[in-house]
Amino acid sequence: MTISDSIRYVGVNDHSVDLFEGQYIVPNGMAYNSYVILDDKTAVFDTVDVHFGEEWLRNVENALEGRKADYLIIQHMEPDHSANILTFLEKYPDTAVVGNAKTFGLIKQFYPEASIKNTLEVKDGESLSLGKHKFTFVFAPMVHWPEVMVTYDEYEKTLFSADAFGKFGALDVSEDWDCEARRYYIGIVGKYGAQVQKLLKAASGLDIKRICPLHGPVLEENLEHYLNKYDTWSSYKPEDSGVLIAFASIYGHTKTAAEKLAGILEKMGEKVVVADLAREDMAECVEDAFRYDRLVLASVTYNGGIFPCMDAFINHLTERNYQNRKIGFIENGSWGPAAKRIMQAKFEKSKDISFFETNVTIKSSLNDESEAALEKLAEEIHKN
Ligand code: FEO
Repeated sequence: MTISDSIRYVGVNDHSVDLFEGQYIVPNGMAYNSYVILDDKTAVFDTVDVHFGEEWLRNVENALEGRKADYLIIQHMEPDHSANILTFLEKYPDTAVVGNAKTFGLIKQFYPEASIKNTLEVKDGESLSLGKHKFTFVFAPMVHWPEVMVTYDEYEKTLFSADAFGKFGALDVSEDWDCEARRYYIGIVGKYGAQVQKLLKAASGLDIKRICPLHGPVLEENLEHYLNKYDTWSSYKPEDSGVLIAFASIYGHTKTAAEKLAGILEKMGEKVVVADLAREDMAECVEDAFRYDRLVLASVTYNGGIFPCMDAFINHLTERNYQNRKIGFIENGSWGPAAKRIMQAKFEKSKDISFFETNVTIKSSLNDESEAALEKLAEEIHKN
């Protein structure tokens, strides 16, 4: 696939992956992107997942049109991009592998059998010229691993952005960018908002006409849209006004309360999403918690704690630095309701989290008192 006169797409689509990075369902598969640059010298950006070595090497060979590969640039060492470094070097042993000190450390750890003939170690801000193309390497630690660097090509005003600006989904399926890019970002990079902000600041000084990420489509139009989304997500600002009501229910009574609250809020004109934490995609629930400005957690009390899927959900939020949001609670406990206290305590170390004053306690099933509390909680949520 031709991106420009001198940039070729040589990545692959994966429709057999069961869980990306061992935890994310990807109903439309995954793309592992890779690029070949043709100039006086040639360069290849990153390799692909271990299962696609042959297909990728064929793509690289076709794109090179009989030429040798001068440089293999490694922007990120996670195995979805680095797994074919050695297979590449078997075919192109003279190619110089370009990376930073951390890249080469990780190559030794992942591929101890590697003996690389030619290496080029670069520092932050250093450049490499292929002829017309001049690449500047910008280190982007923790977006999403410590060795990550992105590459700016001054000649084509192209940013090779590593994992940043990627999304779930193979490239032979067309789907909305925002939805699967958000789920990908929050799930995979969400914890590292400060580091993404740093990268965005560096990018704001560059004239960027095209973004070539390691997952998802090449972005060429309306780049402001994608940059703005990344700014919102990485600064932990709510993206939309709305309420996520996430519930963990056993026999349906807590679910009923969650749905009742949703009905009241919807009548008030609020956008509401209700999520069954035991049955829905956890990454989608986490994504929605970050997307909207208000959150209600509804859980049964279980073994003196909270239901396991609620515990896991809150862990997913706090480990991703969930902040700048207001949270309400519905707890259920037939003989010793404790869920509210336990849920709230899990946010103790979180920044800029506040809580609605009204809490709803249910003992087994809703009654007049708990229904009145639901109404009161809804009013409070609506006022905020
Ligand atoms: Fe696409 Fe962090 O690997």
